[in-house]
Amino acid sequence: MRITINQIKDMKQKGEKIAMLTAYDYPTAKIVDGAGIPLILVGDSLGMVVLGYESTIPVTMEEMLHHTGAVTRGTKQAMVIGDMPFMTYHVSIEDALKNAARFIQEGGAQAVKLEGGVTVAEKVLRIVECGIPVMGHIGLTPQSMHQLGGFKVQGKTPEAAAKLLKDAEALEEAGAFAIVLETVPSQLATLITQKIGIPTIGIGSGKGCDGQVQVISDLLGSFTDFVPRHAKQYAKLANTTSKAIAQYFKEVKAGSFPTAEQSYSMDESILTELTK
Ligand code: KIV
Repeated sequence: MRITINQIKDMKQKGEKIAMLTAYDYPTAKIVDGAGIPLILVGDSLGMVVLGYESTIPVTMEEMLHHTGAVTRGTKQAMVIGDMPFMTYHVSIEDALKNAARFIQEGGAQAVKLEGGVTVAEKVLRIVECGIPVMGHIGLTPQSMHQLGGFKVQGKTPEAAAKLLKDAEALEEAGAFAIVLETVPSQLATLITQKIGIPTIGIGSGKGCDGQVQVISDLLGSFTDFVPRHAKQYAKLANTTSKAIAQYFKEVKAGSFPTAEQSYSMDESILTELTK
């Protein structure tokens, strides 16, 4: 049985911290799920850490569905959340509903996430009314990086802080079950967390949030083009991978790989017949 939105909401009430991680493929999702992480986000960060785009903006529905399916197949207990790509929920309510539904029907996800507060609240309401759980995302919303002027801390002025609080309240009112707070000053994230009844999941927003999310490649040290300040590397997989590949390369060149252990043999008499 997978984790439900009610269990996630209960965790806030009980003061139990919520861990969320991204995953983009079957083997990683299996490991994350096996570790008992309750929320797995197939983030559109996929575009940057897996597909090599410069931002999340070029990511398409087809790419997201392809990876969401792989993650869903690798999980049993976690709630899988599909991240709605840029402009797949902005143009119309109809678009938002159709695309949210595709994550559930084609990707096998149990929920969707979308960026924005007051401006997307109506879309959130309508998606939730259709029976699809929605996670909000405010603060640094990478799909709006051009409007925001880059990847910057959000909510530092009185107006911006008040706007973020309004956004969080609008999302709760619209029926979102949780909200990601990305790169928001810790004090403001704590205040928002205290003011709303649904869980806040922070990334670069301090420990006052109800939960935390990290991009798996940051946590594993497997993506090294840039490492955000809020990322903690619990491993250095890029180094380990480079070393393994260098060793393989060396052994192939030296003829020391493969050995009998990695090879298969056959009945010698068949070979003798063939060489007659
Ligand atoms: O796309 C993503 O990975 C995200 C997380 C950083 C929350 O939106």
